[in-house]
Amino acid sequence: MRRSSAPRSPLKPSTLGRDATLRDSQSWDTLSTAVEPTAELRTRAAELHPSPRIEWLDDSLPALSYVSTRGITFDIVMLTAVWMHLDEQQRQSAMPKVAALVRPGGVMMLSLRHGPVPAGRRMFEVTSDETTSLAKLNGMNCVHHLEDRDTRLRRPGVWWDRLVFIKQMDCGCAA
Ligand SMILES: C[S@@+](CC[C@H](N)C(=O)[O-])C[C@H]1O[C@@H](n2cnc3c(N)ncnc32)[C@H](O)[C@@H]1O
Repeated sequence: MRRSSAPRSPLKPSTLGRDATLRDSQSWDTLSTAVEPTAELRTRAAELHPSPRIEWLDDSLPALSYVSTRGITFDIVMLTAVWMHLDEQQRQSAMPKVAALVRPGGVMMLSLRHGPVPAGRRMFEVTSDETTSLAKLNGMNCVHHLEDRDTRLRRPGVWWDRLVFIKQMDCGCAA
């Protein structure tokens, strides 16, 4: 994970689970770190977003065993359509790891998919309440919660919780 050396922007984003938001990174004056455990998806995503400002890493939740050892924090950590792929035990293990990546005063953005699970996919029903409580225990307060339709793909019965958290400046928690 590279530190941002961009002179014009203080933003240092990270995305866990190959975030579509990175398609806008070409216009960012900053370095982004993207974590994707599936080699095929990582390769495809890197081809789709061939920016020297994006660093693609092979790592996975809940342990983030490589990213966590680098001792680097980020201004924004995004988990878009990723969290519900973890079971309850994994979510409990993962939240402190994710929280530790967010700098004090930094932002974590997370979306939760609800509705029918496509055949062959590993997905769990995860509530915004559970996620908000777990984040709070790890020093991150929910500042925005939107219940949203499946606006992009318009799949029947699918809807989303979109959550934004701010990491406390004086977090006395494990993270
Ligand atoms: C529905 S896709 C969302 C991709 C991307 N965030 C986006 O919004 O376009 C789910 C992503 O989560 C990743 N993922 C699943 N389990 C994961 C884990 N344990 N750790 C990290 N990423 C994981 C998948 O490999 C996949 O890239």
